[in-house]
Amino acid sequence: MSIKGVVYHDEHDVSIEKIDEPDLQSPNEAILEITTTAICGSDLRMYEGRAGADEGMVFGHEIMGTIEQVGDGVESLEPGDRVVLPFNVACGFCKNCEEGHYGYCLNVADPPGGAYGYGQMGPYQGGQAEKVRVPYADFNALKLPEGDEHEEDFILLADVFPTGWHGTELADLQPGESIVVFGAGPVGLMAASSAKRKGASEIYVVDRVESRLDLAKEHCDATPINFEAAYPVEGMTDAHGGPVDKGVDAVGYQAIAGDREGDHPYDPKREDPSYVINHLIEAVMAGGKIGIVGLYTSQDPNEPDHVDEQGVLNVELGRAFEKGLSFGTGQCPVKRYNRRLRDMIVSGRAEPSFPISHRVSLEDAPEMYERFDKREEGVTKVLLSP
Ligand SMILES: NC(=O)c1ccc[n+]([C@@H]2O[C@H](COP(=O)([O-])OP(=O)(O)OC[C@H]3O[C@@H](n4cnc5c(N)ncnc54)[C@H](O)[C@@H]3O)[C@@H](O)[C@H]2O)c1
Ligand SMILES: [Zn+2]
Ligand SMILES: [Zn+2]
Repeated sequence: MSIKGVVYHDEHDVSIEKIDEPDLQSPNEAILEITTTAICGSDLRMYEGRAGADEGMVFGHEIMGTIEQVGDGVESLEPGDRVVLPFNVACGFCKNCEEGHYGYCLNVADPPGGAYGYGQMGPYQGGQAEKVRVPYADFNALKLPEGDEHEEDFILLADVFPTGWHGTELADLQPGESIVVFGAGPVGLMAASSAKRKGASEIYVVDRVESRLDLAKEHCDATPINFEAAYPVEGMTDAHGGPVDKGVDAVGYQAIAGDREGDHPYDPKREDPSYVINHLIEAVMAGGKIGIVGLYTSQDPNEPDHVDEQGVLNVELGRAFEKGLSFGTGQCPVKRYNRRLRDMIVSGRAEPSFPISHRVSLEDAPEMYERFDKREEGVTKVLLSP
């Protein structure tokens, strides 16, 4: 039997193909019939040939649906249950899982850290497809209320809502503090709305895509800073009257760069993987903390020639040391947050779906990859219905 899925061929080339229907490979697994999945900024790194994806891979790590089948060893789930999966695949019982580092499970991939449909993160088929196999199903599936309410909020529990929240946790944001978020993609918007929920006194969001900055202003009460229009740190410190308490990097190594001295703050052709981190070092006050959830890599198979393929950055560590700054990085441990964030959605205290701009059928995925990759105005978060 076969099902349909989004298959990667080569850079900027994905298509809908027939793939083998997944089956149970161990008694602790389940098969999920997918009702909603999404395209993530992280998928674009693979789509652009910048993250070591293999030809023939099925993409997709933001997945929710209905349990179709469970193995004999699964205790908490049964066919018909509505669930959302964390993008991390984790066992729940290794040393790292025991300590809450679900993004770095020791039993699912080598190097540690598994995900559905992601290069170098284990053999797990992606969820931009009709069905997916769920390893360690009791541990990985988070149950949702029956029915179809909040579908577009719950799908964001797979990744971007917890990841944005995690950015503010890594920055140790406290009520009343000020924060700057670089990047107004779905992750940055979720970080800014998490900051609002946690009681930040002032929130600044830096990007160049006006439609995304508008969402930050409207839904997160953030002050938008367009880095095409002004040197972003100056724009922010002028508005705030100095550096802010905390910062989040929701951009990563593919940061669009410009002249740091200010005359030409923006050059869309130039990429500088150190750009955002160095801006944060400047923008955050002494003693501050910075959460880096934007993706950095030690291997860039297709880097522009001025960017280091080993991911060695020109980070101004001396300046960071002088200011006594702290940094946190890495994959979000979704399980640490998703149950509580789910309950905020159920009780009406969180509506994370505001960045969703498109919901299309799986067949339209190739076109939406192209448009999301261009950061086209108005294309912010794309859901796919298998
Ligand atoms: N750590 C994790 O667990 C995790 C999970 C999901 C996504 N991510 C990563 O988070 C990052 C954001 O993902 P996304 O889904 O929001 O996608 P995205 O790529 O759409 O968002 C990035 C945004 O950054 C903006 N940008 C580019 N250069 C900038 C600069 N110099 N200053 C400010 N903004 C700039 C872009 O215009 C874009 O709006 C990606 O690197 C993604 O891989 C990490
Ligand atoms: Zn993702
Ligand atoms: Zn584990």
